[in-house]
Amino acid sequence: MHSFRYAEGSLKCEGVDLESVAAEVGTPAYVYSAETIRNNYRRLDTALTPLGDRMICYAMKANGNLSVLNLLAKEGAGFDIVSGGELFRVLKAGGRADRCTFAGVGKTVEEIDYALRQGTYSFNVESEQELERINEVAGKAGLIAPIAIRVNPDVDAPTHKYISTGKSKNKFGIGLDRAAEVYARAASLPNLKIRGLQTHIGSQILKAPPFAEAVRKLTPLVLELKALYGLEFFSVGGGVGIVYRGALASGDAAWWKGGGEEATERITPEEYASEVIEPLKALGLRILFEPGRFIVGNAGVLLTSVLYRKETPTKKFVVVDAGMNDLIRPALYEGHHEIEPLRQPKDSSLEKVDVVGPVCESGDFFAQDREVATLAPGDRIALMSAGAYGFVMSSTYNARPFLPEVLVEGDKATVVRARQTWEDLIRGEKVPGEAA
Ligand code: LLP
Repeated sequence: MHSFRYAEGSLKCEGVDLESVAAEVGTPAYVYSAETIRNNYRRLDTALTPLGDRMICYAMKANGNLSVLNLLAKEGAGFDIVSGGELFRVLKAGGRADRCTFAGVGKTVEEIDYALRQGTYSFNVESEQELERINEVAGKAGLIAPIAIRVNPDVDAPTHKYISTGKSKNKFGIGLDRAAEVYARAASLPNLKIRGLQTHIGSQILKAPPFAEAVRKLTPLVLELKALYGLEFFSVGGGVGIVYRGALASGDAAWWKGGGEEATERITPEEYASEVIEPLKALGLRILFEPGRFIVGNAGVLLTSVLYRKETPTKKFVVVDAGMNDLIRPALYEGHHEIEPLRQPKDSSLEKVDVVGPVCESGDFFAQDREVATLAPGDRIALMSAGAYGFVMSSTYNARPFLPEVLVEGDKATVVRARQTWEDLIRGEKVPGEAA
C-alpha cells in the first residue's frame, strides 16, 4: 500500500497536492508519506505476529531522516545501524540503543567504543579480526560486548550484482564452514557475550523461497550454537524487494515474484511471512528482521522540474533539475523509477525520451528510451519509489547542494530537512593562509 494517487487532476501524497509542495519548497525535493511508512511497518509486523518474540530493526541506511526514525521509533521499531553516525541519529530521533544491531565490515575503535557505551543490543560481527577488536575495546572500557556473528549461507538470491551479499564470493560475513570455529573463539574471549546469529542474503529480492532456504541452511548450526552458548536471537537480515515498475498504478508496495526491478508479478508480505515463519519458529529464538527498502521505498518520491527539451537526429532528451547526485540508483544499479507528471496528463499519448539531469556525466539519466507523457519546460514530475536509498546516497557533486526533505502526514507537509545553501556547501573549507 502507498499513499500517492491522482485526484482532481493532480498527484497527491495523502491529502497534500504535490504541485503545491513543489511551488512552496522548490524542486528538486524529496517527499515522504508518513502513512505509507507506518502502514508498511504495521503490515509486516502483523504478518510476523505468529512468531511471537520478534523485533523489526529498520535498516536505517535506506532513509535516515530524523523524522522517519522518530516515526518508526514510536511504532516500536528497533534499528539496524552500520556506523557511529547512524547510532547518533537514532538517539537524536528518540530511538533506543538497546534495540539497535550494529552491522558492517569496517567498524572503527571509536565507533565500537561509542556503541558499547550506549548499550547497543548486538554487534553483528563480520570477521575474526573484528571479533578480537571488539573484545579489546570492551576490555578497555570495562564492559561486556554482546555479539552475533554474520554467517554467510551461500544462497543465490536473484538481484542486481552490486546488492547481492549472500554468496561466499561477497565480502560479507563468515562462511558456514568456519562459523562454529569462530563462535568457539568468541566464547573464549573474556569481554564478549554471545547473543545471536545474523544473516543477510542481499537486497531487492523478489521471491520468498531464498529467505526460507537461508534459514533452513543455517538451522543445524543455530540449534547447535543455541545448545552450546544459549543464543538469544536469530536475525534473517533484510532484503525484501518492492514494486518499482508500475508503482503508481498498482498502488501497492507488495512484494513481487520474478526478476529485478522489471518484475510484474507480486506476492504479499503475508505470503512471504508464511514462507519463513515455519522454519523460523522451529528455532525457538527471538527473531530479528532488518527491512529497509520495504518500509520506506514506496513511501517517497523525488520531485523535479523540466528545464529544457533537446533533440538530436536519433534522440529526444528531457532535461530536469534533479541529477544523479540527488538519486544515483539508475546510474549505479540500473534502477527503474516510474516518471509521473504532477498534473495528470489530459490525454494518454506517450513519447519516447531520455530523461536526464544537469550533471556532467553520461550516466546522469533517470530514464532511457522510455515512453512517458509529453513533457514541456516548467512541467513537474515525480520520480516514484525513491524513499529508499535516495536522499541518503546523494552527494554534492558539481557543487549541487543537498535537497530538502518533506514529510507529509494527512493534509500537512513539513520540511524535515532544509535545502542546503551555497554557503552550507563551503562550510568548514579554507584556503591556506586566509582566515576561514
Ligand atoms: N541488513 C543488512 C546487513 C544489509 O546489508 C542491508 C542492506 C539491509 C539489512 C537492508 O536491506 P533492504 O531491506 O533495504 O533490502 N543501495 C542499494 C541497496 C543496498 C543495500 C545494502 N544493504 C539500492 O539502492 O538498491
